[in-house]
Amino acid sequence: MTRLSLTTMSMTEVAADALIIGVARRGRSMVVAPGAERLDRALKKRLEDALKAVGATGKAGEVIRMATLGAAKAPAVVAVGLGAAPGRGERYDHEAIRRAAGAAVRELAGTRRVATSLAAVNGDSDPEDVRAVAEGLAIGGYAFRKYRSGASTADHRAAVASAAIVVPDARDTAAKAAVDRATVIADAVTTCRDLVNTPAADLHPADLAAAAEQLCTEVGCTVEVSDEKSLAEGGHGGIVGVGKGAANPPRLVRIGYTGGAAGAPAIHLVGKGITFDSGGLSIKPAAAMEWMKADMGGAAAVLTSIRAVAQLKLPVNVVGWLACAENMPSGSAIRPSDVLTMRGGKTVEVMNTDAEGRLVMADAIVRASEEKPAAIVDIATLTGAALVALGSRVYGVMSNDDELRDEIVEAAERSGERSWPMPLPEELRDSLDSQTADLSNIGDRYGGMLVAAIFLKEFVPDSVPWAHLDVAGPAWNEGDEHDYTPKGGTGVPVRTLVEWLAARAG
Ligand code: BES
Ligand code: MN
Ligand code: ZN
Repeated sequence: MTRLSLTTMSMTEVAADALIIGVARRGRSMVVAPGAERLDRALKKRLEDALKAVGATGKAGEVIRMATLGAAKAPAVVAVGLGAAPGRGERYDHEAIRRAAGAAVRELAGTRRVATSLAAVNGDSDPEDVRAVAEGLAIGGYAFRKYRSGASTADHRAAVASAAIVVPDARDTAAKAAVDRATVIADAVTTCRDLVNTPAADLHPADLAAAAEQLCTEVGCTVEVSDEKSLAEGGHGGIVGVGKGAANPPRLVRIGYTGGAAGAPAIHLVGKGITFDSGGLSIKPAAAMEWMKADMGGAAAVLTSIRAVAQLKLPVNVVGWLACAENMPSGSAIRPSDVLTMRGGKTVEVMNTDAEGRLVMADAIVRASEEKPAAIVDIATLTGAALVALGSRVYGVMSNDDELRDEIVEAAERSGERSWPMPLPEELRDSLDSQTADLSNIGDRYGGMLVAAIFLKEFVPDSVPWAHLDVAGPAWNEGDEHDYTPKGGTGVPVRTLVEWLAARAG
């Protein structure tokens, strides 16, 4: 991960391979944002004119590179667009700053050291602005190069190695704390991306469980792993059933973090950990399988968020559940019309083996419910319908508790991730009736994201506040890279979860 530091050196004196400054649009013109004054003076007040001459407009995400020609120690300056300049009394918001930092550092891949004045764009180097810059730099400078040989590394440059944030006082404890927090969050986001990007052949359910053991015990959490035998003995028909077609058996992982009062009810996070979703016997067409190694994004987010919460020592009790299985077709796979008996005794007729996420999630939700949780939040790349409803950058939040749903949506907003509240229309429930068992695993074709959520709700006790995050869209970026978001695994919704748990911790 890009190493972060604070410095009080001026932009003209700091030793770096490139400087990053902010520019913005005001009306139809471009303006240089606060923080670049010294550089401007060294350029005889011609910074703005020079940037305009090479095409800078201030548009959000735009990155323009220019030589400093001796005006600064660093040989190059990069002007990154912040979008519209704020009006009088207004500020650049944190997400605009985070995105600008990310876009710049992404463009600068292959550069060793950078320094930036972006924390000063609002004129005061507020600690939350420092944090936004730090997060943008650390998650924007991400590259997954583990599987490249020398044959292609030249075209896929390494992430920026280190980034210095220029502030008025490098020993300011609030600024330091902001960088520390950003470092923990960025480590969680980038670790989540690494797990999601890892090919399914190298991340079987047992490997995902081993990653949880390694990454969470080293920060003081407890980790318990149930194997296929103990899952069968415990009546986890969903996880066992989905895993039956695969050569690599399923796992259920429980991660425990006790930062809060002893005995206080814990918040339970449940993540979908399908390490590969072929669809099973209801097999997917080839193109739909291309990125189904990412179907464990929910579990990866739960694992890395709890790791971050433990590193931040937040005073709250959290339990994570990773429902891990590989969904494959074979002679031993579950068939359409097979009936599974889930944990707790409900029976489900599997009418489509590609609706496997809800089957593994139901067992894990029941397990969480058995521990009298304060709340359950589940995270899953659950439906293609989520992409139809909300596009690929916004995730849906469904809940049996309006207050909890609003808390999550607001935490997402504060963290710079994008979510939207979605309903659970009662009339859709009947479509999940089965001719044979208590429930069918598929229902109405319309509102598929809501139907899946209503299926999960059947396994949540009415007394437990529960929220369901369908992150099938934003957990993976199939499109071009943008801002601080690379192609592939994005790390969504790690920032929301950590932000929400921090708010809960008070
Ligand atoms: N993992 C998929 C959902 C998915 C699709 C995530 C596309 C990301 C991108 C899930 O297991 C699935 O296959 N869902 C089916 C449900 C259907 C059979 C009711 C779907 O969405 O098509
Ligand atoms: Mn599926
Ligand atoms: Zn799936």
